Amino acid sequence: MARRGSGLFSEGRAVEVLGISRLSLSAGRTGFPSTAGSCTLLPRYLMEPRACGSPEPDAVAVSLYSKPVPASGTALSTRKKNVHVLVGVTGSVAALKLPLLVADLLEIPGLEVAVVTTERAKHFYNSCDVPVTVYSDTDEWEMWKFRSDPVLHIELRRWADLMVVAPLDANTLGKVASGICDNLLTCVIRAWDRAKPLLFCPAMNTAMWEHPITAQHVEQLKGFGYTEVPCVAKKLACGDEGLGAMAEVWTIVGKVKEVLLELDLLHQS
Ligand SMILES: Cc1cc2nc3c(=O)[nH]c(=O)nc-3n(C[C@H](O)[C@H](O)[C@H](O)COP(=O)(O)O)c2cc1C
Repeated sequence: MARRGSGLFSEGRAVEVLGISRLSLSAGRTGFPSTAGSCTLLPRYLMEPRACGSPEPDAVAVSLYSKPVPASGTALSTRKKNVHVLVGVTGSVAALKLPLLVADLLEIPGLEVAVVTTERAKHFYNSCDVPVTVYSDTDEWEMWKFRSDPVLHIELRRWADLMVVAPLDANTLGKVASGICDNLLTCVIRAWDRAKPLLFCPAMNTAMWEHPITAQHVEQLKGFGYTEVPCVAKKLACGDEGLGAMAEVWTIVGKVKEVLLELDLLHQS
């Protein structure tokens, strides 16, 4: 499946975060970067062998140069801009559902989706099944080489109109509750503009869920103004039965729609 590009925009100027002007610096004769030398400045997905239907190099190179975003107040402003939804995914077995969640979100008219993943979450899904850009720690660190370079977690928090962390595992829940930001996902959340909605969908084993620290952490996140999409009871992947399973994908997508409608951000289909 082809990736739907997610140009990330900064202060009205088009900045394709993972491409930026580095491409012109490192481009070879063909206009597409070689895999040597200065190409270490390029994101990993441009350097690795292409797989799972990713676009041709030239197509990627072209897509890296986005057109400027029309400033509000222009003739285009009568049309609603696309709504940018950032999906955070952490190392719960419920991350298996990431492809389904993204696919269902993309069904909502006018939505652009990008994903931020933890390293552990990668274990549970195949990025080839996720038809949008998936950002991880490597991208954050490969992108920033010079003072003028964009900082990915800040670009992402600017780009996103809404964030939904699904699943939110016990580890990242605890980190977010206490302000720890040691990876791309937790940095985006730590820098989050709390005027924008952030939804979180806890998912963990029942024993973890029932530990008293969990309720404290969940309350802390709600105190920050974030919205819980509560977990549900079911037979869990580990065989235990009880509360702790991530809410169903349709519940999460329904909640995203509801919040966007409340903010009058949804396009009419
Ligand atoms: C197979 C497997 C399934 C797991 N499922 C969960 C889960 O559902 N919820 C949870 O909180 N932790 C779960 N964990 C533990 C997390 O993956 C672990 O705490 C990890 O450090 C989380 O890292 P992250 O928060 O950076 O993604 C699971 C671990 C394994 C090996």
